[in-house]
Amino acid sequence: MLIHYTVRGVLVLLNLLALLPCHAQQSPTIGVPSLKETFKGDFLVGTALSATQARENGAGAASLIAQQFNAVTPENIMKAAILHPGWDKYNFELADKLVEYAQKNGLKVNAHTLIWHSQLPGFVRRLTDPDSVRQFFYNHITTVAGRYSGKVFSWDVVNEALAEDGTLRTSIFLEKLGDNYIVEAFRLAQKASPNTELYYNDYSIERPKKRAGAIALIKKIKAAGVRIDGVGIQGHWRANNVPLPDIEQSIIEFAAIEMKVMFTELDLSVLPSPWNSNVADVDRTSAVRTGMDPYKNGLPDSVQHMLAKSYEDLFRLFLKHKDKISRITFWGASDGQSWLNDWPIRGRTNYPLLFDREYKPKPAFYKVIAVK
Ligand code: XIL
Repeated sequence: MLIHYTVRGVLVLLNLLALLPCHAQQSPTIGVPSLKETFKGDFLVGTALSATQARENGAGAASLIAQQFNAVTPENIMKAAILHPGWDKYNFELADKLVEYAQKNGLKVNAHTLIWHSQLPGFVRRLTDPDSVRQFFYNHITTVAGRYSGKVFSWDVVNEALAEDGTLRTSIFLEKLGDNYIVEAFRLAQKASPNTELYYNDYSIERPKKRAGAIALIKKIKAAGVRIDGVGIQGHWRANNVPLPDIEQSIIEFAAIEMKVMFTELDLSVLPSPWNSNVADVDRTSAVRTGMDPYKNGLPDSVQHMLAKSYEDLFRLFLKHKDKISRITFWGASDGQSWLNDWPIRGRTNYPLLFDREYKPKPAFYKVIAVK
């Protein structure tokens, strides 16, 4: 009896495999559980999408993304430097491709990002008078959010506007437009894209001081009668050093002010930090130094297991608060794509994600699946 069923099971599986397109059969994740199915009903599971992936170059990443994720965030191609290279010049080609790719593959687009101090076009960095900055601000939000209205699920309207102590970060926007610019950004985004979810996104806002700053900011936006739907905690942390109590407290506090909570750029670095900290400031880089790239030739089992344990603990916490969390997005599909190979030190070999350089699931992946 048992043998009969087993044989039948194998035959059914073989038939199913024969129906799959050729590149999927070669996928290293065939027969592997999927993140999006495992956490269906709990939260969306997303990945950052690179320009290469939006162009659909590379079958390995393409089949992995289609199989594992149900949300995508453009890693770079919707940032102002790329979308808006000149005063009257917009370049929507890649962003349009990404939207099309997402539609084809049933992926929600979490657009990133309208207003950010980094990756600004050169012409904006050179602006000196407040009126021109205000005009850019208005044109950019209105044109970009307007173009993708109804096509993207959400926008990170403002990214990284806070300093570590919870006050507003010094930036061209704060300097030229004053401290109401964040409220204004949300107001313009809401007008240009009325049915899109609007979020504030930042790193280290799980830490008490910066969190308090974020809460004050959200309250200010709401008090002005402007809509904000959620808050993205980036989640660039270090394996074995994930600040779980701060993360839990943040989930509770943001949910208490009626924010959808999302982890929007999750990755856990296994490499030494030049400053021994979790801070993910893109402007802070460091020179190449000896001893800072210890796993060039492979990750020792002990570190692999440490990474897996950190992910397991984190996902246990996420599931505990699944009623408040709407999405978990990894900052890349597989280790080879991670920005952490080049930040804060160029040319290192990091292993921060759930899939390795051959797109194969790592022990951390199986630990995450098993938490469910
Ligand atoms: C990073 C990208 O991953 C890199 O490719 C790029 O060179 C710099 O920006 N916080 C953010 C993201 O909000 O946009 C950053 O993405 C990582 C830190």
